[in-house]
Amino acid sequence: MRDETIAIHGGYAGDSTRAVAVPIHQTVAHDFIDAAHAGAVFDIQTPGFHYNRINNPTNDVLEQRMTALEGGSAALAVASGMAAVSYALLTVAKSGMNIVAAPQLYGATYTYLAHVLPTFGIETRFAADDTPNAISSLIDDRTCAVFFETVGNPAGNVVDIEAVAELAHRRGVPVIADNTVATPLMLKPIRFGADVVVHSLTKFVGGHGTTLGGVIIDSGRFPWASHADRFPMFSEPEPAFHDVVFSRDFPDRAFAVRARSVTLRNTGATLSPMSAFHLLQGLETLAVRLDRHEANARTVAEYLAQDARVAWVGYAGFADNPHHALCHRYLGGRVPSILTFGPVGGFKAAIAFFDSVALLKRLVNLGDAKSLVSHPASTTHRQLKPHELAAAGITPDAVRLSVGIEHVDDILEDIDAALDAAVNAATSIA
Ligand SMILES: Cc1ncc(COP(=O)(O)O)c(C=O)c1O
Repeated sequence: MRDETIAIHGGYAGDSTRAVAVPIHQTVAHDFIDAAHAGAVFDIQTPGFHYNRINNPTNDVLEQRMTALEGGSAALAVASGMAAVSYALLTVAKSGMNIVAAPQLYGATYTYLAHVLPTFGIETRFAADDTPNAISSLIDDRTCAVFFETVGNPAGNVVDIEAVAELAHRRGVPVIADNTVATPLMLKPIRFGADVVVHSLTKFVGGHGTTLGGVIIDSGRFPWASHADRFPMFSEPEPAFHDVVFSRDFPDRAFAVRARSVTLRNTGATLSPMSAFHLLQGLETLAVRLDRHEANARTVAEYLAQDARVAWVGYAGFADNPHHALCHRYLGGRVPSILTFGPVGGFKAAIAFFDSVALLKRLVNLGDAKSLVSHPASTTHRQLKPHELAAAGITPDAVRLSVGIEHVDDILEDIDAALDAAVNAATSIA
């Protein structure tokens, strides 16, 4: 099946009631047939469900659908994008190891890597930029993962996934890629060598700003057993899960199984089945929404680029944008609908623009059907120091737009009025 069809039908062929919509299995546990059945389900020897912190039939459909869209072998749905990011990393990391990351990251991810993981003895080494050499030069024999956003939020940079993956694999290190901004309909990182893909489903997949969720997709391809010294958690009996050896017992999905049975099972950021249902609803229309998002964003970017009230526009769809070539290569000519710009007048004008929009929502979210505006330096990335902001590609005057699917003329009219306010603020004496 093609992506548009998988997004609607993947992982669900009806149940015993022939329900057309994926049923919401709002239950905490499932009744075992007998002790032998219970044991086999706990050992993952037979398909089945036991306790819904760990697995659930509605979530299972979402996991299968995202696995198929990303071209992976298995997935784990979790309560938020941050749960996906943190669980993916905790599944490979332990005290004394390090993670090598690109610097252009969503603010909470940056903070998690820079300030939370070090309290567990896990160091993050941020590369000077997102180039393959800058990233790979930081890898050593204690590196347990290379992490980046395929399309950075809000910088809009596109990582050279294939080159980074090749350099990381040469050193025996897996690549974990956050594909939230691109979505699997624009980019499939596993095709280019990523070993694990994470998403905030809260964004384009849910698509309506109603539901938090995340997912981790295992490519099933990283040779954990060949790197047993670095990853004993995959090659030695797991005391947290009755001595399973993940790379031996689940060779095609060792990462996803460990993420579920050790990381999620014992810390519990479980996706609720009601949320999984909402996210599945969003996924069904993702393809058509993305087309409209993309077309509207291009019109907005072109409008801003020719406007004398705008100093600069960051949009990878423009041929002179530094990320254009990689965007073209990895997203096949498509461009996500997240763009940044700086109004003439700098920081003061950016704040005035933000304060003056009427249709656009002032939010720290992206990928909603509604057009959204944010000022990263004072919100999502507020905790970053000036040099960290610069490395993340965020200037004080940067306004980020997540262009929605309203009629584009209404979006442009709102932007036009807010730009007038920005100019007035910048030229006012006070
Ligand atoms: C690229 C990226 N990854 C992860 C997250 C975290 O997602 P959530 O808010 O669902 O925890 C976000 C949120 O904005 C994001 O933009």
